[in-house]
Parts: sequence; C-alpha cells; structure tokens
Amino acid sequence: MPIYQSVTFSSDDADELADVLNDRRPGYAYSRIDNPTSAALASAVAELEGAEAGFAFATGMAAIHATLVSLVSAGDHIVATQAIYGSTRTLLSRVLNRLGVRTTFVDASDHDAVERALSAAPTRVLYLETVSNPTIVVSDVAALAELGHRHGATVVVDNTFVSPYLCRPLELEADLVIESGTKYLAGHSDVLAGLVSGDRERVAAVRAVQTDTGGSIAPLAAFLVLRGLPTLALRMERHSATAAALAGWLERQPGVARVFQPALPSHPQYEIARRQLASGGGMFAFELSGGRGAGRAFIDALTIPERTASLGSIFTIVSHPGSTSHRQLSDSELADAGVAPGLLRCSTGLEDLEDLRADFEQALGAAEFSAGGRADEVAIGAAART
Ligand SMILES: Cc1ncc(COP(=O)(O)O)c(C=O)c1O
Repeated sequence: MPIYQSVTFSSDDADELADVLNDRRPGYAYSRIDNPTSAALASAVAELEGAEAGFAFATGMAAIHATLVSLVSAGDHIVATQAIYGSTRTLLSRVLNRLGVRTTFVDASDHDAVERALSAAPTRVLYLETVSNPTIVVSDVAALAELGHRHGATVVVDNTFVSPYLCRPLELEADLVIESGTKYLAGHSDVLAGLVSGDRERVAAVRAVQTDTGGSIAPLAAFLVLRGLPTLALRMERHSATAAALAGWLERQPGVARVFQPALPSHPQYEIARRQLASGGGMFAFELSGGRGAGRAFIDALTIPERTASLGSIFTIVSHPGSTSHRQLSDSELADAGVAPGLLRCSTGLEDLEDLRADFEQALGAAEFSAGGRADEVAIGAAART
C-alpha cells in the first residue's frame, strides 16, 4: 500500500468535490476526513475483527474518545470495568464527567454487580477490556454483551491487550471493538495509532465525530501499522508462548507473591480465557513479596527489558503501572482499579526465552538482596515517566 503523503485530493469538477465531501460518492478530498492509506488500514483491521466497517485514528485514545462521544450526550450513564487503562479511566471520570456523562465503575468479573449498575440507571454504554490493563482480568465478553444488550446498552470492548489474533469481541456479540494500534497491531514501538471496527452505521457515527474533532492518523503512521499486520500471527504466537513460560516459572520462585497470566491455571478467569482467547497473550502482571521496594530493585536490575510505559512490542517491557500507565489515578482510584502499589507488568517481546528467564532470575536475586525496601517509596523507574 503506498503512503499517500497528501492532505488534498483534487476532483474533476465542483460537483464531484461536493459529492465526495458529502459521502454521495466514494473518494478523497482532505486527509483529516479520510486518506487512502488510512482507509486501507481501517478496512484491513475491520476484516481481522470480522467487522463490516472500520476507521483509523492517530492514537488509541483518539479512537476511544470519538467512539464514546458518538454514543453519549450530557445526562447519559456509562457502566465501565474498573480494571481499565488509566487514560480511559480519566477520560470517563474527569473529561466526560465534566460534560455531564456519568460513569459507574464495576468489577466486570462480578456479573451481579454489573447487572446492578446497569439497572440502577438507563445505561448507554457498557465499556469493557477483553484483558484489562494492568491487572490482566479477563472479561467474559459473551456473557457481559448479553447482559449489556438486555439493558439497552451499546457494548464497546477495548481489545488492545490481545489483538484480533487472539480474540474477536464482535464474534462474541460486542457492538464496537477498539484497538490501540500502537501496541500489537503495529508491534514495533515506532508508531501511534487507534482503530474502531463494527457495523457500518455505528462506525459512520464515530467517523462523523472524528471529522469534527480531528484525531486523524497520518499516512506514514497508517503505512507502518499495515506493515505490522502480516507478522501479527507470528508475533502473537511467540509473545504468548514466552509469556506463559516466563510467568509459569516466575510463579514458582520464592519472593514472588502473585502472578497473573491467562494461560496459567492459577489465573482467576482461567476457564473464561480458555474459552475466549486463542492463547494467553503476551502480557502478565506480578507482585513481589517485598512490595514496592523489591519491585523497584527488580526493575532496576533487569538488563534485557526496556524500562518504559508501553506494551505489545518486539522488545520486552517491564513497567510499574502505579507510576507509568496509571500515574494519573489517585490512590483510591488505583485501589478501585485493583492496582496494588507494588504491581509490576510485563509485556513479553520476541527475545530468547532462556535469556529473559536468566535476566529475571538475577533481578529476583537483586530484589531479595534489597528486601525491606520502604513501602512509601514513590518512583519506581522515574525514567519511565513518558
Ligand atoms: C488497553 C489500552 N487501551 C488504549 C490505550 C491507548 O492507546 P494509545 O497510547 O495508542 O492512545 C492503551 C495504551 O497503553 C492501552 O493499554
């Protein structure tokens, strides 16, 4: 697919331009509205998701913002999983809340609690993550979609942590699926992107918001995500195999309090994961018995993983959500989202498993050596605050 590095596309006459701008005939006029490279990416991802239509954005957050704004107005109510990406949480609890849209956050693994929240007030949107950031809670999308529809809500699922290779929420009856294309779809930590896919009518409504809010993806960025798609399957297989093996090994080590990985039988939603995901995915979370101090020593001792804030890359990334991806949350919001102060998150890359295991082993040794790290230490990997 060529990179259509152009803002404007000329028409043969004034009528053609008016028709294109008013969606009366296919074509391109202005790249904030649409661009051939972005459109190719949107339709490729829609095909992977099993959707009728899709649209591409500059970032995952732009996709989430436009999707939610296409569905709600002042006075509306949203029910969202409390295990949720930090910026999505604050988009709901601060930005949209300021504009009169109220969100109730619930434990999505407690279906009675979800039902109570849905029936407490008429609800426009039920918002879920297939596998949550950062606590690796697996939502039972089919059961929750049925619940959401019974209460008249549109079901929106952020599928970023697993990608359409491992799960296709639309096949489980979700209405719209969102991906941060920045992560597994692009896969190389070198481009930001967001995608929404679903039926034609809903995607057209999202697109109409995007035309007026302008979170458009650049043609080069769309090209870079398209470049990632042919290797998605290979990468996801490798990410999943490495994460399952590394997390399984970690779980057996002294000094490790808890490990959350959907492929491990110890995972609270192991049975749902087996039903819903093709494999456990490349993400896992863990807590060291020494808490925050041990976590800090562990991260600082690692030599292979990148100390940064993203995920879904060819490079392994270990992060401390409390000071990176969820830094904007207050202590009570962190507790509500289930993010323990010492929780660490790992996104496994494509490196050799034995190299990673040996690196984790020596870092656990360093964490043990530092045991007794102060619980009130705030910054784990301050350099990771991107
Ligand atoms: C689950 C999830 N959704 C959405 C986003 C936002 O994506 P982006 O950084 O592309 O805006 C992220 C980013 O980390 C994420 O982890």
